[in-house]
Amino acid sequence: MKLLLTGGSGRLGTELRKLLPGIIAPARAELDITDERSVGQALEKYQPELVVHAAAYTDVKGAESHKQDCWRSNVGGTRHLVRALGEAKLIHISTDYVFWGDKGDYHEDEPPGPVRNYYALSKLVAEEIARSARHHLIIRSSFRPAAWPYPLAFEDVYTSQDYIDIIAPKIALAIRCHEHITFDTLHIATERKTVFELARKRNPEVKAGSKIDAGVALPDDISLNIERWQKLEPKLSKGPTRDQALC
Ligand SMILES: NC(=O)c1ccc[n+]([C@@H]2O[C@H](COP(=O)([O-])OP(=O)(O)OC[C@H]3O[C@@H](n4cnc5c(N)ncnc54)[C@H](OP(=O)(O)O)[C@@H]3O)[C@@H](O)[C@H]2O)c1
Repeated sequence: MKLLLTGGSGRLGTELRKLLPGIIAPARAELDITDERSVGQALEKYQPELVVHAAAYTDVKGAESHKQDCWRSNVGGTRHLVRALGEAKLIHISTDYVFWGDKGDYHEDEPPGPVRNYYALSKLVAEEIARSARHHLIIRSSFRPAAWPYPLAFEDVYTSQDYIDIIAPKIALAIRCHEHITFDTLHIATERKTVFELARKRNPEVKAGSKIDAGVALPDDISLNIERWQKLEPKLSKGPTRDQALC
């Protein structure tokens, strides 16, 4: 199957390109999601059967002062892609931030919002645009670089995010096996923990910090319910007889 990836130079995109050899990943110079013509031309040229949309404006703090850039990329960009899809299926990469983040354990079918920041608003609107594609799968996730890069980590924020080298193979599996996924929304994450606990797994020296110092509104508990993925993952990777992969 011919797959096309947007955002191939990003944190997730770089891993997906390694995990899915052969995936077509045009650079921004060739496929600029804010430019409808460029999107149309790239899809016309490559004729993908599946488009994985990982390109986005992802600077959560920067989005507060650069709303127009954020909206153009995340909302306008997703609209341009959906319009150009034709018969191609869309896998749209979304975020746990579509939820308010007070109670945690958010299920795929719960109503999203309200949102805490402008980036989250743009990603929520983008999700709804992605849902207008005839064939679509929304994957909500959250990931960190493979090494914890900061001296502090918040002990007052609960999350189900994980390191990119743990999350990306799961997303790659879902992409490879998308024909076996009947849901239109899927949470791909790991167990609920504090950000501090996550940081300690890879950096035992990290100190506990508070979200009060983040400079942007952050949730208390943004963890996603992952039961759907936990049931699906072993079936996709091992198949019904455990030695036979479905895809
Ligand atoms: N990081 C997280 O924890 C997280 C959590 C939940 C969801 N997500 C979502 O996951 C996806 C990937 O995130 P990431 O962290 O891998 O992003 P990232 O490292 O910030 O990379 C963003 C990617 O989008 C591309 N891009 C931005 N604007 C573009 C445009 N106008 N046209 C074409 N490409 C453009 C960038 O290309 P250039 O190299 O040219 O700039 C880059 O490849 C995003 O949809 C994000 O919202 C991320």
